[in-house]
This record gives sequence, C-alpha cells and structure tokens, in this order.
Amino acid sequence: MPFVLTTAGESHGPALVGILTGVPAGLVLDRDAIDADLARRQQGYGRSPRQRIEQDRVEVLAGLRHGRTLGTPIALVVRNADHENWRWGMSPWPPEGEPAGKGKEAVTLPRPGHADLAGVMKYGLADVRDALERASARHTAAIVAAGGVAKAFLRELEIEVEGHAVEVGGATGEDDMRAAVDAARADRDTLGGIVEIRARGVPPGFGSYATKEERLDARLAAALMGTQAVKGVEIGEGRALAGRRGSEAHDEILRDEAGYRRETNRAGGIEAGVSNGEEIVVRAAMKPLPTLMRALRSADLETGEPAQALVERSDVAAVEALAIVAEACVALELAHAAREKFGGDAMDDVRAARRAYVERIPWSPR
Ligand SMILES: Cc1cc2nc3c(=O)[nH]c(=O)nc-3n(C[C@H](O)[C@H](O)[C@H](O)COP(=O)(O)O)c2cc1C
Repeated sequence: MPFVLTTAGESHGPALVGILTGVPAGLVLDRDAIDADLARRQQGYGRSPRQRIEQDRVEVLAGLRHGRTLGTPIALVVRNADHENWRWGMSPWPPEGEPAGKGKEAVTLPRPGHADLAGVMKYGLADVRDALERASARHTAAIVAAGGVAKAFLRELEIEVEGHAVEVGGATGEDDMRAAVDAARADRDTLGGIVEIRARGVPPGFGSYATKEERLDARLAAALMGTQAVKGVEIGEGRALAGRRGSEAHDEILRDEAGYRRETNRAGGIEAGVSNGEEIVVRAAMKPLPTLMRALRSADLETGEPAQALVERSDVAAVEALAIVAEACVALELAHAAREKFGGDAMDDVRAARRAYVERIPWSPR
C-alpha cells in the first residue's frame, strides 16, 4: 500500500479527517510533536482571530496502539472548536430547531480568487458556503497532522524536512515582512509570498526518470500546487536557470573519499526527476488571499446585480502557515518515494533496506 493521505472535512464542520495508508508497523509517534506542528500552522503574523478559537490537537482513531503504528491505515482527526458556533448552519444532517448561530443565511456574493463562483456553477449550488467550506485552507490542518507522521517516518531514515517563509508581500527579513502585513491590514488588503522547503539526508534515487508520474520534481510540484493559493513552484534555482548559460546553471560533479559531491546545488537536489543526494530545495509562491475586508467587485448570484464580494473573518497573510503546510506536503511525498525505494512492512525492514542501499552507493549524507 503506498504512503498516501486522503482527507475530508469542512472549515466549520465537526472535524477534519485524514486517512493515511502505507505507514509500516513499529513507527513510534509522538503526539506532542504532531500537536506542535498543528500549533505552528496556526501561528504566523497576519492570521485571523479564528486561530484564537481553534487550538488544534490530533486524535487518532485507528492504526496506532500505545504510540506504535500497526502497519494498517491510520485515522487522524482534528476537531473544529468553532463548529460550536455553526451547529445549525453546518449540521451534517437536516438541522433540528430554529435556525441559530452562524451560517443561517445563504452566501450569494462570490469572492474573486476563491472557489465561490466556479464551485456554485460546477456543483449546481445555491449557497456559496457549500463550495467555500471545503475549498477553505482549514483542512490543511489534517495535512499537517499526517505530515507529522511522515516526518517521524523520514527521521528514521535520517531525513529532515523543514519549511519557512522567505518573502511576504515582496518583503524579506522578519521586520520588513511584519511591516508589510501591518500596512496591508491598515489598508484592509491581503498579501501573498514565498515559502522554501528543504529536505536534508535524502539519498540519491528517490523518484525516477522512467515516466512523468514517477518524476520526483513533478510529484513535489503537484503536492505543493495542490495546496490552496499556491500559484508557482520552483525546484532549486528554478526560473532563474532559464536566463543563464549552461556553464552557470549546472552543478559540477566532484568525487572524494566520502563519495560524489557538488559545490553548488542549483538543481535543488533533483536531476532527471531523481534525487541526486544533495539537499532538496523547493519554493512555492502564494497569491494574496482572496477574502479582502475592502471587498472587490462581484455580482449577486440571486439578482445578477453588481455587488461587493463576501467579507468573512480572514487572514491578512498566511505565508508562514503555508510554510508548515508545504513542509508536510513535501514530507508526505518524500515518505511515499521512500516507501517505493525501500519497501518493507515493519520499520526494521525499511531501516535495513536503507542501510544496505546506502552502503552500496558512493554517497554519504551531509
Ligand atoms: C494556510 C492557508 C491559509 C489561508 N487562509 C485564507 C484566509 O484566511 N482567507 C482567504 O480568503 N484565503 C485563505 N487561503 C487561501 C484560499 O484557501 C485559496 O485562495 C482559495 O481556496 C482558492 O484557491 P486557489 O487560491 O488555489 O485558487 C489560505 C490558504 C492557505 C494555504
């Protein structure tokens, strides 16, 4: 079974759910480490007050006993504390009693840049909420929880994955990024930015050039592009390579007693869709968030009349949050690739397969 995550859950529904398959038996999980990642996803400058309502915690309903994986699907749950305010409006079954709380009235003012208009047309919906609840990035909490499992698995293979924000609204450096968020908030506007994810210790040979489905660069790009608001992905120096000469674009191959090595890493650790043993470096560009407090022009779905788009509690920027989500996405994809490479039902099998492989090749992690 491949290392694959399926998620379900709406932003203000009862909970977010993830089913993770392909995790070998005998992996020790640390609940605090997963909760710490969930907390990191909620932090960052520019987040909305929603983050004060939610204090995400992972629950495990299956696949784990006494903190050790059983080799069977793992069922992860992150509850939405805010659901309390949406009990009627987001009731999975026809609600009982008088309408109460949030979500009582249909939303008919689609936001440019969100799922609203495309969603209602595609699924034949009368209430934009039926589209936006799932399209919302709230369900990235389930991805981060599963990413915590993937990172624990990768750590056993001496691989570490880490993501951080490198640019917010065109600004770099913590002070300038915060100032950019403050300025956007004052103008009731939103920002995007750039995140970078680095994976150390990945041996050569994850992914393959054999088919486009197997290429590691394509898979990482899909994993990141599959995240809300991500509009561009770069592997290594990415777009900048297009403007250079070959002599300035590639990483020359050197050899010493520890194995092959490079002095540069412009390729970001992937050549021909295969990891080459250098650090994997991936960047994702996030567009500015589509819910603006100073709403953009839209049209009312009921009347067809010009109107202002929906204004709903929203982040000014979520680039730091995206960094944690992107870290989880990359970890999940690398864990998938590691399972393909090393197989095994129990962690001991996987560790032994990695050891034998690393002994066979002239490479050592840096
Ligand atoms: C971590 C994270 C938090 C987000 N928070 C918000 C938000 O508060 N308000 C908003 O309008 N969009 C937010 N978004 C972006 C929207 O979910 C996204 O733009 C929307 O679903 C449309 O998808 P698209 O941008 O991929 O086209 C967030 C995205 C991420 C990754």
